[in-house]
Amino acid sequence: MTTSSERITWTNRWAFILVTIGSSVGLGNIWRFPYIAGTQGGSAFVVVYLLCVLLVGIPLLMAETMIGRRGRGNPVVAVLKTANESGCSRWWGALGWMGMIGALVILSYYSVVAGWIVDYFWKMLIGVSFESREAAEAGFAALQANPVELILCHSIFMALTVGVVARGVVSGIERANKIMMPALFLILLLLTLWGGVAGDMKQAAHFMFAFRPEAINREVVLSALGHAFFSLSLGMGVIIAYGSYFKQGSSIANASVWVAAAGVLVGLLAGLAIFSLTFAYGLEPASGPGLILQTLPLTFAHMPGGQIFGTLFFLLVVFAAWTSAISLLEPFTSWLNERVGLTRRMSALSVGLFSWLLGVGVCFSFNIWSDYRWFGKNLFELLDYWSTCIAMPLNGLVVAIFVGWAIKRHVAREEIALAGRMFTLWQGILRYLAPLAILLIFAHSLGLLA
Ligand code: PHE
Repeated sequence: MTTSSERITWTNRWAFILVTIGSSVGLGNIWRFPYIAGTQGGSAFVVVYLLCVLLVGIPLLMAETMIGRRGRGNPVVAVLKTANESGCSRWWGALGWMGMIGALVILSYYSVVAGWIVDYFWKMLIGVSFESREAAEAGFAALQANPVELILCHSIFMALTVGVVARGVVSGIERANKIMMPALFLILLLLTLWGGVAGDMKQAAHFMFAFRPEAINREVVLSALGHAFFSLSLGMGVIIAYGSYFKQGSSIANASVWVAAAGVLVGLLAGLAIFSLTFAYGLEPASGPGLILQTLPLTFAHMPGGQIFGTLFFLLVVFAAWTSAISLLEPFTSWLNERVGLTRRMSALSVGLFSWLLGVGVCFSFNIWSDYRWFGKNLFELLDYWSTCIAMPLNGLVVAIFVGWAIKRHVAREEIALAGRMFTLWQGILRYLAPLAILLIFAHSLGLLA
């Protein structure tokens, strides 16, 4: 078992920032953000989302990083040690468990969706082209109806993820992020520029940024808040796990601002690139989850250089999803490794296998098991609902209360190292604003807000 003094750390502050950006930037920013923005009134959603990141997201990101660094262990141990130091109950350990289990569940279906992206990357690479709307829709439907293809892509993606995490914190996770993240930024810049030339950037910018306060309603606010959580990887023990390898002495506030800013920037650039093309080809921005899998391939089939553009685009999304999946595998892996004493390789493999198995069920839920429903949802929808609408906000709420109210003020002060007013502001947000905002999401997703 690793003790706190000998715990490995990321090479430096920038490495922590990079891997956390890697966790944050994922299917959430590139797949989810554009389609939710598209269906929730464009700029209205974007503005509210930015506010949520600033007011609730960054303070919580700081709180989770703080727990990890203070407790220097896997999420369960980190929470327990931090609680212990302030004389709090051992029951807070449940916070770590809830996060780790949540991350495992998200990983199972995240890997299936990432598998679709791997499939499309391959199709673009070998020159499959979807010439009409019907062809694009039929292509996606055919993939969903084919359990073998789904499981194959899911397995490839999960193997890639386990392969990195098994290699260790610095030589696996940090190294993979150091290669993939710069590549991701470069491809994204290229695609946004290309979108500006081949697409209708002006209309895209108008759609995303022209402020229309009349379009803001409760639905928009709540989905923006929920998305801020998902896109910043909050409430899943992931930031606690990554924070536990963060060097003492570097500013947590500063790192959190960088992470949030980069995540937002990637979402906005991806949105601009995607909507420029969607508008240039007269397609519907509000087409929902199929936006990047049906609408975009259609534009690739008709634009000059479409095959290269399409291949690069899906490569970008694979990188984004891969670095996020790595972070979802880490919390439970580090727990098995440190508490149960399995080697890191065996730990990563066991967690990956379990999650993979659950993912196989998810693959079936689109075809042979599509009739099995619980609360009106198939397995995929059920896991997504449980993890993002229940576990994530609940965990975020407990983090806010734990750091805001339960732990000793001087402990928080020492770790966060913010001067007077800024510290009070941060603590005030954790004490009042964040819990209130999260309770609202909750009430909404449980259907309590009529
Ligand atoms: N933030 C990731 C994304 O946007 C998803 C994620 C959620 C990763 C929770 C880790 C923890 O895709």
